[in-house]
Amino acid sequence: METIYLDHSATTPVHPEVLGAMMTYFGHHFGNASSIHREGRFAREAVEAARFQVAALIGADPAEIVFTGGGTEADNLAILGSAFAEQAGRNHIITTAIEHHAVENACRHLESQGFEVTWLPVDGQGRVSPESVEKAITAKTFLITVMHANNEIGTVEPLQEIGAISRSKGILLHTDAVQSVGKIPVRVDELGVDLLSLAGHKIYGPKGTGALYVRRGTVLKPITFGGHQEGGMRHGTENIPGVVGLGKACQIALRDLDTQRAHLEGLRDLLLTKICEGIPDAHVNGHPNGRLPHLLSVSFAGISGEALVRELDLRGVAVSAGSACTAGSTKISHVLAALGMEEALAVGTLRFSMGRDNTPAEVLQAASLLKRLVNRRRM
Ligand SMILES: Cc1ncc(COP(=O)(O)O)c(C=O)c1O
Repeated sequence: METIYLDHSATTPVHPEVLGAMMTYFGHHFGNASSIHREGRFAREAVEAARFQVAALIGADPAEIVFTGGGTEADNLAILGSAFAEQAGRNHIITTAIEHHAVENACRHLESQGFEVTWLPVDGQGRVSPESVEKAITAKTFLITVMHANNEIGTVEPLQEIGAISRSKGILLHTDAVQSVGKIPVRVDELGVDLLSLAGHKIYGPKGTGALYVRRGTVLKPITFGGHQEGGMRHGTENIPGVVGLGKACQIALRDLDTQRAHLEGLRDLLLTKICEGIPDAHVNGHPNGRLPHLLSVSFAGISGEALVRELDLRGVAVSAGSACTAGSTKISHVLAALGMEEALAVGTLRFSMGRDNTPAEVLQAASLLKRLVNRRRM
């Protein structure tokens, strides 16, 4: 049975061109980028070419890219690194109630170390208001961290407005753009961010790869200790095949951004129409327009989302119950709770996230299966 994979927000398959680019660096060119001989130089050139490709996707300068071991590490480096660097006695961070655990738990760790964190609420569609960000700023605020797009409901946050506020107050702005990069245009200057996290495995690159954009002049302290790699910001011998794969994935994402966006929006809207036509009382989560093109979060009252995921899986359709990172847990996600959803509705939430290889026929098949399963459970 072929799987209809509709869980691209959890992870994506490695693109064949990405795999092709990586293979050379597993075998033939296996050098250490710190070595000065020919093999080392090949590796160094590959790392720098990848840095250029990552920077191009987000409108940054290659010198502003630090490779990391994924999105979580990029978030940690941004948040802990700016906290450790803060010398002026400022100890206040502003964030939202719907951040990914990578940001949430980095902030909680700082709270446990005496930092103050303001957790801003969001509205029923998952948006934080820029006014609430501005109001929360105190003389002690050194960092605002607001995700670009939410991984559970797809809502895109008003970062440009928040960026204007942070710049006018001279406060660092970090964004976790792990879900938005490669799906919608992400340009660091337009958003006005100083720090931005991205991850390879959400954009058809390898798992365990990512990057942090660090605006020139931003002072960060490393959170690891070791050699001189990545300008002293991230230590350890570089994962050359991984970095090459991340670079290639970014290059493809930039090349295909417009066509993929249209393709994904078409699939999402088809799925949405079919669900709304076929299943009474389907509740669509997130912002109606300001959201990611590939993601649809829908709640079905009186039904267990997790049970539905299992039933769909048995029939070859892979989706997620809420966030992939909280799958398996029975308590409702902090994101759905922050939207003010009733528990009975929140537990019946499914996340569909389409990808480049999905077809309208697959979406129609998944929608009709879903309709049968939900309506049968409700009988
Ligand atoms: C919004 C967001 N931030 C961070 C991460 C963590 O990235 P990684 O899996 O590369 O550590 C994820 C992964 O699900 C995510 O969706």
